[in-house]
Amino acid sequence: MSTFQAPKGTYDLIPPNSATYLAVREAIAAPLRNSGYGYIETPGFENVELFARGVGESTDIVTKEMYAFETKGGDKLALRPEGTASVLRAALEANLHKGGNLPVKLWYSGSYYRYERPQKGRYRHFSQVGAEAIGAEDPALDAELIILAHQAYRSLGLRDFRILLNSLGDKECRPVYRAALQDFLRGLELDEDTRRRIEINPLRVLDDKREAVQEQLIGAPMLRDYLCEACKTYHEQVRELLTAAGVAFEDDPKLVRGLDYYTRTTFEFVHDGLGSQSAVGGGGRYDGLSEMIGGPELPSVGWALGVDRTVLALEAEGVNLDIPAATSVYAVPLGEEARRVLFGKVTELRQAGVATDFAYGGKGLKNAMKSANRSGARLALVAGERDLAEGLVQLKDLQSGEQTPVVLDAVVEEVRRALG
Ligand code: HAM
Repeated sequence: MSTFQAPKGTYDLIPPNSATYLAVREAIAAPLRNSGYGYIETPGFENVELFARGVGESTDIVTKEMYAFETKGGDKLALRPEGTASVLRAALEANLHKGGNLPVKLWYSGSYYRYERPQKGRYRHFSQVGAEAIGAEDPALDAELIILAHQAYRSLGLRDFRILLNSLGDKECRPVYRAALQDFLRGLELDEDTRRRIEINPLRVLDDKREAVQEQLIGAPMLRDYLCEACKTYHEQVRELLTAAGVAFEDDPKLVRGLDYYTRTTFEFVHDGLGSQSAVGGGGRYDGLSEMIGGPELPSVGWALGVDRTVLALEAEGVNLDIPAATSVYAVPLGEEARRVLFGKVTELRQAGVATDFAYGGKGLKNAMKSANRSGARLALVAGERDLAEGLVQLKDLQSGEQTPVVLDAVVEEVRRALG
């Protein structure tokens, strides 16, 4: 291993590719900002108990994938594997739900950590942008979130994604289904691990990727057939609202998510160009989570979209985001006096809002012009002693090569005009 290698399952975001990540985060956040969601930021770690209770003691995330540790002071903490439990905890701590203004709508963007087996699209450190709407039970809210994620992906130019939709029922109907499913599963030929899973988390068995297991699952009872009237009506309304909004989805009665807190609406955004790690985003309703972590009853719904996988989806579809060059003007001084004068102009241009950079390190003209071209700038400001003696700098269009002398005092104005 080289000294400079990032830890296994992680990678660095570096220019120029990092610009795509920023643009993806912004594209996902834009529809949320535009729909009443306020920005929230929570710590990168929490008491381990929060995730054990919230995400679920029986989930892979908590049992196998959590970076849990004890501090020197004896606190039992974990790096956050997801955002929902933290955001709900923060909302409860700040009493946001008591402001008489429900739902509390929040969005976030950050790093998450899961000790998973790394492969393309699956990392130990990854980024999500997420949204949570806390404290309201309204099918329009579920629909809103799905529509906003759809809008975000569309705004990025993605086409080959699909929305899978399911209802997981509520505390009335799911236990009945769970028992029926357990009865069915106990009669199958399954390995030890899977038999244990039947007792702890039988719905996850439906998600087993092995063909031999899937074959035996034919004829398993389906949750769809066990939904109570309230859940059926709710789900039908979500479906109707999505259809009315022109958002296509696929009913997927087998969709179960890897976190225990879901009730009713659950959904996943999958991209067909990504191979096995095809889920670019997912979410759903979690009406019981607040009570699971010791709070009041607060029915809620939300999602998180994976930034890393969204970037991979863009690559898979060959979409190049239109990211403007970071630098518009590049200043090239020739000699000491020019360095002093041009550096002043660079500061002035920046204060006027023009993205400007400077040839540092006493480069010669040839090298400095190379850097100017590499920066993506449209204009170069070049000045030598003879120009300065006349009170001038040369404004060079880096595309056409055309060069115009400009009076020092008119630089900001002329640059603005040239940039249009
Ligand atoms: P999740 O499905 O576990 O849901 O994660 C959401 C997205 O994060 C995934 O679809 C994927 O794009 C990305 N992701 C997850 N794990 C990895 C990984 N190891 N490497 C790369 N990307 C990954 C949640 O986290 C829920 N908190 C979503 C939610 C919000 N539900 C309600 N509100």
